[in-house]
Amino acid sequence: MNIMVMGSGGREYSIGRMLAQESHIEKLYFAPGNGATAALGDNVTIQEYDALADFAQEQKIDLTIVGPEAPLVDGVVDIFKARGLTIFGPSQAAARLEGSKVYMKNFLAKYGIPTARYIETDHIERAFEFIESLPTPVVVKADGLCAGKGVIIAHSHDEAKQAVSQMLSGKSFGDAGKKVIIEEFLDGYELSMFAICDGSDYILLPAAQDHKRLLDNDEGPNTGGMGAYAPTPLVNDAIYDNVKERIIRPTLDGMKAEGAPFEGVLFIGLMVVNGEPITLEFNVRFGDPECEILMPLMESSVSELFYKAATNNLSNLHVKFKEQYGVGVVMASRNYPYGSSDPAEIIVDDIVHQELEEHAHISYAGVREIDGKLYASGGRVLVCVGLGTSIEEARDRAYMLCGQVHFAGKKIRTDIAYQALKKA
Ligand code: AMP
Ligand code: GLY
Repeated sequence: MNIMVMGSGGREYSIGRMLAQESHIEKLYFAPGNGATAALGDNVTIQEYDALADFAQEQKIDLTIVGPEAPLVDGVVDIFKARGLTIFGPSQAAARLEGSKVYMKNFLAKYGIPTARYIETDHIERAFEFIESLPTPVVVKADGLCAGKGVIIAHSHDEAKQAVSQMLSGKSFGDAGKKVIIEEFLDGYELSMFAICDGSDYILLPAAQDHKRLLDNDEGPNTGGMGAYAPTPLVNDAIYDNVKERIIRPTLDGMKAEGAPFEGVLFIGLMVVNGEPITLEFNVRFGDPECEILMPLMESSVSELFYKAATNNLSNLHVKFKEQYGVGVVMASRNYPYGSSDPAEIIVDDIVHQELEEHAHISYAGVREIDGKLYASGGRVLVCVGLGTSIEEARDRAYMLCGQVHFAGKKIRTDIAYQALKKA
């Protein structure tokens, strides 16, 4: 089987790393990949979607897996499917669940799926009126894709109004902010759940928890995610059942009724408030760094899971997960998340610990290869992943590996999985 993975992050590396271990995979391509995926397969530099579809046909690629949201929202799945190519990901119409927060919120409301109380509007007076009616903090969201920056938690009504004015005038996010969502603040704990969907059926992966803030104790600015772990003990069977019955099932049925059956990864961002899971948002792709810890927990074939999902064939698939925990600690570059950083050579110590060899690894993200050496090239550079039979053991292995990886300006959080460990 020949497979192409679209994207260039740690998420795509972690999918590729699993595929590279499957004996029936002949050729593995990354489009565009990063400096480390070149060691797992071939990096492809073609950017244009039609040209990539040509390439997939020429190289007889049996399955394309799309990592990031941008190509999905652009409609890459529709382009590939029109050629009869097999591709894992939602159509452009279904990707609106992530591409437009207004679409997503209206969909949730229409199908009675639990979510925060909200209005959508492009009228400033209407926005101000609703803001005044809510207790603080108030949450303001730009409609379109803003690379994770379009959500403002405003601590006063004035701050909320200012955020809305800036968005509606196009000053903060351009066209993506020309419509806004204003919603009530939910006070609880956040979870990430991932359902691999084929339009009708789905496989739910173990629940994960991300750490979005830059600094320990959830302080500092929001980032794409500084670390994650799974499965989280903050989920019990009642929460899983609730998510399946009240969120995933109505979403798959609803999307079918809307004429946009959902195939791909449904990423449910949840806030658990008094034991009740409430949908904060949907994304239509894997979380990063959640993917980096979920992939190595898969015992069953990753290619089979994605292939069966892409060919509407999940109903009889049984997927096994390792009875282990995964903890991933992100190493980011000096100026993350504010700006770019100078390239810095990555040195991984040559100390061999059998424990790390067997139970820990690196998923590479923002890296470039120059003359056989890897350089941190900005953003989130890599994820140190540890597996273990307890969260503590997995966490200790991840941090032990962090101690062996060096580059100028590296930064990490030291408290990944703290909510789970506090509970224990
Ligand atoms: P979103 O992109 O909608 O997930 O928002 C980004 C982050 O903002 C979430 O991960 C939450 O931490 C926070 N957030 C979003 N909506 C709410 C809400 N209604 N109440 C509390 N926090 C929220
Ligand atoms: N880790 C959260 C995200 O990928 O959006």
